[in-house]
Amino acid sequence: MKYTTLKKSNLKASVIGLGTNAVGGHNLFKNVNEADGKELVREAVKIGVNFLDTADIYGLGRSEELVGEVLKEFHRDDYVIATKGAKHWFSDGSVKTDNRPEYLREAVEKSLQRLQLDDVDLYYLHFPDHETPFAESIGELARLKKEGKIRSIGISNVSLEQLKEANQDGDISVLQAPYHMLDRSAEKDLLPYCIEHNISFIPYGPLAFGLLGGGFTKDSKLDPKDWRNSVPLFQEEQFQQTLFKVERLKEVASEKETTLPNLALAWLLAQEGVDAVIPGGKRKERIRENAQASEIDLSQSELALIDDIL
Ligand SMILES: NC(=O)c1ccc[n+]([C@@H]2O[C@H](COP(=O)([O-])OP(=O)(O)OC[C@H]3O[C@@H](n4cnc5c(N)ncnc54)[C@H](OP(=O)(O)O)[C@@H]3O)[C@@H](O)[C@H]2O)c1
Repeated sequence: MKYTTLKKSNLKASVIGLGTNAVGGHNLFKNVNEADGKELVREAVKIGVNFLDTADIYGLGRSEELVGEVLKEFHRDDYVIATKGAKHWFSDGSVKTDNRPEYLREAVEKSLQRLQLDDVDLYYLHFPDHETPFAESIGELARLKKEGKIRSIGISNVSLEQLKEANQDGDISVLQAPYHMLDRSAEKDLLPYCIEHNISFIPYGPLAFGLLGGGFTKDSKLDPKDWRNSVPLFQEEQFQQTLFKVERLKEVASEKETTLPNLALAWLLAQEGVDAVIPGGKRKERIRENAQASEIDLSQSELALIDDIL
């Protein structure tokens, strides 16, 4: 496994991390098996996939709780834990985005309790609320950092303008934004800004939420309740066009004696500014396979060929 130091921090994160959206993520996924989720996290840390990504909203706190239970089995230096807050959920099932300093402070405290930790390595403002000025919300996270409750500050799901405003005092270490072979919109402005301003770019959905896993065919149908029905790539016309590219990418992967998901992760790591990837999954076997992507180097001609296909 290769490691990277997250920008403006001394956190040494594995370049292949683990997204834990599906670990206890009952609010998004059906039939989530909590024991399998814990086993996935345990396996990751055991083999040096030390960069773990969760959020308070994943399973409405359950993902953090399960991840926290596993982390207790390890030494504090064995992992780099990232979580996120800003989604306030209520007992009637409603969710409201809240970036107010007092809410964020409460959210950080609750995340620490669920994770059973005194501090969290990376804390992201998960979504902007379009009301609270970033100076206030990021200002509060900067105070929490000074107090030692969080070690670095990240932000997610923002536009370039919002990122600039949030980073006006240079506090942002990490941006998490959608980016994968089939959605390269981040290359337009977010990625160049991160490179220029010393911010680690961590793509989310690195396997296009499963499309780059290699298991989809033209006859594949998502369960009507699957959240990915709202993702344009999975909608009928785009889906068929995308599968055409996916088949060609599979050929490149097989030429290189690797798998499509590993090619997709290695391709992201080959992009300047991308410091680590956090593929998600539900099964322990995924970890070992995805970890291998850290050893794949893509040549200029291979990158050019992939570019042509995309
Ligand atoms: N900041 C945000 O707003 C935000 C939004 C979305 C996601 N995220 C973070 O990013 C992480 C990753 O995103 P994601 O989990 O949504 O999407 P993803 O990593 O692009 O894709 C996950 C899917 O890929 C499959 N998969 C994983 N490894 C595979 C392999 N080796 N071969 C074949 N299929 C494989 C998984 O299948 P199985 O489930 O069958 O194992 C799962 O269906 C999340 O877990 C979360 O931590 C953040």
